[in-house]
Amino acid sequence: MEVERDQHTSPPIPIIDLNHPDEELVARAVVKATKELGFFQLVDHGIPNDLIKRLKEVGTQFLELSQAEKKAVTSEEYYGYNMNDQYQLENGPQLWAENLMHIVWPPSCINFNCWPKNPTQYREVVEEYTEEMKKLTDRLLRILSEGLGLQRESFKKGLGGETELSIAINNYPPKPQQDLTLGLSEHRDIVAIALIIDNDVPGLQIFKDDQWLDVQYIPHAISVTIGDPIVRLSNGKYKSVLHRATVNREKQRISWPFFVGSNPDWILQPLSELITDHNPSKFKPITCKEFKHRSFFKLPID
Ligand code: SIN
Ligand code: FE2
Repeated sequence: MEVERDQHTSPPIPIIDLNHPDEELVARAVVKATKELGFFQLVDHGIPNDLIKRLKEVGTQFLELSQAEKKAVTSEEYYGYNMNDQYQLENGPQLWAENLMHIVWPPSCINFNCWPKNPTQYREVVEEYTEEMKKLTDRLLRILSEGLGLQRESFKKGLGGETELSIAINNYPPKPQQDLTLGLSEHRDIVAIALIIDNDVPGLQIFKDDQWLDVQYIPHAISVTIGDPIVRLSNGKYKSVLHRATVNREKQRISWPFFVGSNPDWILQPLSELITDHNPSKFKPITCKEFKHRSFFKLPID
């Protein structure tokens, strides 16, 4: 358990064994990492390795389809298939990536037109993965609630009760000519929590102590980025992590983030239990929909 190690020998990025028999210790490690960094890697997390392997297979098979077949997946607002073909950020690095994203839960929010029809096992595998991830994400939200001395369901309720879950596939093809090409520019997550698995090509970087750190590839591990909604719910007690994804010179990198979002009409605001005369609210209430829109288009938020 990383957190108990001596300061001088601790690796800079916490690695947490979720299956450790001492659940208190696990919870303390998650809370510490979320308070200090907003990022950690989970090992022995309970998501079957075979399921992760099948998820990667169906995603990779989808990416290998022709452009015409991939474009058959509907693209609407934030969801569906998108090819970002070599666009240039103003004074920034060149970006190159393709992305698929769709809602997986709750059923009333799913639009299956945004899911690939091919390969045919895609839906079954993603539904199985979603069931497992629901358990894992609920556990993390409970740990974060109890870590601030709150009722275990507080964070989930603070996101609107039924959290909106979605999955993405990011494909970052190799880019030999560039010193540093970003597949995804630096950002803090708009969603509450993202749980990322990737193929064996490292690329995820987090900003810590004024520098970009490479996140080490650990087979079967899940990288967890804490997003701004958790900072707001916690009234600033928890942190979100600034992160980005680089493109490898030789190898294709693929990542599969799973996102814990929130009900769009829900009002996002610090949990009332955390607000006292000594600790006034640091964030104004905002609907989740407005928060997402303003964050996405980099508009100011109070
Ligand atoms: C993300 O920030 O959503 C994904 C980063 C990655 O591809 O590892
Ligand atoms: Fe992210």
